Amino acid sequence: MAKTDAQPIWQPEMLERYPMDPNAMVADLDDAHKELLHTYVAETTHSTQLAGILAAVAARHPRYLRVKELFETLEAYRRIGQAVYEQWRAGRVEVVYDFASGHGLLGVLLAYRFHALRVVCVDLERRPAFDHYLEVARAHGAPLHNIEYVEDDFANIALPPKSYVICIHACNEATKTALQMARAAAACYAAMPCCMRDGIYIRRIKHLDDRVRYAAAVGVVAGQFGAYKITAIDERITNRNLIILG
Ligand SMILES: C[S@@+](CC[C@H](N)C(=O)[O-])C[C@H]1O[C@@H](n2cnc3c(N)ncnc32)[C@H](O)[C@@H]1O
Repeated sequence: MAKTDAQPIWQPEMLERYPMDPNAMVADLDDAHKELLHTYVAETTHSTQLAGILAAVAARHPRYLRVKELFETLEAYRRIGQAVYEQWRAGRVEVVYDFASGHGLLGVLLAYRFHALRVVCVDLERRPAFDHYLEVARAHGAPLHNIEYVEDDFANIALPPKSYVICIHACNEATKTALQMARAAAACYAAMPCCMRDGIYIRRIKHLDDRVRYAAAVGVVAGQFGAYKITAIDERITNRNLIILG
């Protein structure tokens, strides 16, 4: 049973017990690993209901919840959820856009937490996973009326005032487009870049290993887009783990 009001059971080193192969499925974990994962979700989200929902997604739709995806999204949620909370309390947020949302799990977690906000996931392709999350959440008593999924190029979205733009692992130019849109709309943003080809933000970054090059490129992006913070998720989940908040 998860103890959300006592000392946490989950410790970051427990990540090493889990396969980070992108194809490893939650449904294929043994019962002990599933139970610990349940505790992790409950402690991270402060919700045993959400932990039950994700466990039920894995049981009902076993090909739609990956281990790496779950950790990546929950850790991004931990950082970005706090940033959204702070900007919302300051009166700067009414709508959260998750651009290049893919499966949409981050949007689902944010919609669950922030009932007063509208959450819009946008991706070129609507993923079945998103509908599975909603179906299971609703069956478990979480209506999530404040979330929608728009199947479109996010460049076609007109951002209303008090938008918050999120862009996680959208490749190359896509992150830049999202940040330019956020800037034009004076919107707060959270971006976790992945690939950043030479020439997009800076002509060239040379003679650096991959890890340092990535960090340097993130620094360039943060500078160009007036970020107020750079934070990170655990590098054992992904080596594209830096988050820029602006
Ligand atoms: C690597 S996935 C990341 C998905 C998700 N954000 C995550 O963290 O798991 C990249 C996604 O970006 C989407 N994408 C790329 N360019 C896009 C655009 N211009 N408009 C909407 N979606 C886009 C792709 O369809 C794909 O689902």
